Amino acid sequence: MSTLERLPIHPALPNRQLANGSLNGLHARPLLKWPGGKRFLARELRSLFPDRYCQYIEPFIGGGAIFFDLMPSSAIVGDANEDLMECYQAVRSAPDEVHARLSRLRNSKEDYYYIRSSKPRTALTRAARLIYLTTLSFNGIYRENQRGEFNVPYGNRPLRRMPTLVDLKAVSAVLRCARLCAGDFALTTKFARPGDLVYLDPPYPATSKHSFRKYHRTLFSVTDHERLALEARRLVELGCHVFVSNADVPEARKLYSGFKMIRIHRTSIIAASSSYRRAVTELVFANGAS
Ligand SMILES: C[S@@+](CC[C@H](N)C(=O)[O-])C[C@H]1O[C@@H](n2cnc3c(N)ncnc32)[C@H](O)[C@@H]1O
Repeated sequence: MSTLERLPIHPALPNRQLANGSLNGLHARPLLKWPGGKRFLARELRSLFPDRYCQYIEPFIGGGAIFFDLMPSSAIVGDANEDLMECYQAVRSAPDEVHARLSRLRNSKEDYYYIRSSKPRTALTRAARLIYLTTLSFNGIYRENQRGEFNVPYGNRPLRRMPTLVDLKAVSAVLRCARLCAGDFALTTKFARPGDLVYLDPPYPATSKHSFRKYHRTLFSVTDHERLALEARRLVELGCHVFVSNADVPEARKLYSGFKMIRIHRTSIIAASSSYRRAVTELVFANGAS
């Protein structure tokens, strides 16, 4: 068993006033800007997803652009990034406490580098630190070095505001309907049942020009992509609605042969240099798209 598989799983908390997509008039926005974030894809995926499904399952949650857009009433979400999952766990259980810590942090270059070098001892302060850093980092990038240290420079946006208490409470309400899993995707997908909607958004293959694989010390290897494609086929067999995002590369088309393939056109915003802001295509593979 790998170390990741032994990490904690937090069950959903009692909060059943949510129907899919409704939060008593509130709107939950992603807390963290995340590399490979799928905000641009939210509307398209909504139109492809089935109207009815049991649970929503997303094992590569990242910034949660699709999860927070859907606001599902019952979900299981996970990610291999333990700091990220700890942050969601903290915001879910104590949005006021995280907000209190966040509101003490100032937006200046000196404070940013001081906070970046800090190593908070509590989960609540670590959550506030992660939200602070991803909000103010250059291009909103999340990236770690080999030692697992956040290493993105200050983004020079003195007017950028932190999420408000209302934002954190809305995010907390949506997360309360979800089981949170820190670890490998297989830890999350093993809970899938027939009728569930599964959205898989892994780091893209290294052959992609727009590969995001270097943003975390753990790389997603070719073997991991093969393992994921096998798991996607198992989920289809099980009776789930399965959707997979990937780069428009031959390796991905081969891995998901037999799935329906939808081409998505977008502008890349991941790279630091503006010369990399250009049109790219991505793929969505699906067994359930109409
Ligand atoms: C493309 S990003 C997901 C972005 C997300 N859909 C969003 O909209 O923000 C891929 C995510 O996979 C996570 N990851 C990398 N390897 C993983 C693994 N083996 N199992 C689960 N998650 C993994 C990364 O930490 C990252 O958050």
